Amino acid sequence: MPLTIAIDGPVGAGKSTISDEVAQRLGILHLDTGAMYRAVGLCVMRRGMDLQDEAAVSALCEAGGAQVDVRYENGAQRTLLNGEDVTSFIRAQEVGQAASAVSRYAAVRKMLVRRQQEMAKSQSMLLDGRDIGTVVLPHATVKIYLTASAQARAQRRMLQLREKGDETPFEDILREVNARDDQDMHREVDPLRQAEDAVLVDSSNITFEETVEAILSIVEAKK
Ligand code: DC
Repeated sequence: MPLTIAIDGPVGAGKSTISDEVAQRLGILHLDTGAMYRAVGLCVMRRGMDLQDEAAVSALCEAGGAQVDVRYENGAQRTLLNGEDVTSFIRAQEVGQAASAVSRYAAVRKMLVRRQQEMAKSQSMLLDGRDIGTVVLPHATVKIYLTASAQARAQRRMLQLREKGDETPFEDILREVNARDDQDMHREVDPLRQAEDAVLVDSSNITFEETVEAILSIVEAKK
């Protein structure tokens, strides 16, 4: 039986980097599902379409105009949009916002969830996102809900931005974190929530290494 690990949580909780490390130590692949929503968001932006136009975005997905694929290079995920490697374009702040907007639409979710389930069917994998434990892998071997206070998440985001020379004030970053939480947790289709059988890990006051260790010991206990 393949080992499946679901890690869900809000923006800025460190899911991607922590998931990368945990998967590497377990010797399994990590699928960052947010990257797939980002690829759809990028597609909609590039076409100059209105992110609020659910009918148009749904029609695009249903017509196969926003095909998202993933491949691995030395264990690292590359995300493809209609065959083009868009890995380096999807991290921008506005693409994250576009991803959050299009992720509200059932047609987008249906297309991506199906792809994610296919990938995790035949191999051991760690998936991180918002709906992995609740929708994508309801029977995952291990489910983690990784969170941190909005203050702690905004603080980490600020440090990342400062390293890049970005001086956006803390209050603006905190407002953006709260707005994204609100959109991800209150959308109609498959909102972010902790699965009943998920173990809560709060990383507000622990280090990266301590968070990785906490998750690895939960995995060990469940295996
Ligand atoms: O984790 P991230 O910031 O890369 O995700 C971008 C957006 O995609 C996020 O705001 C909500 C959406 N998303 C989702 O709805 N379901 C997932 N499994 C992953 C991401």
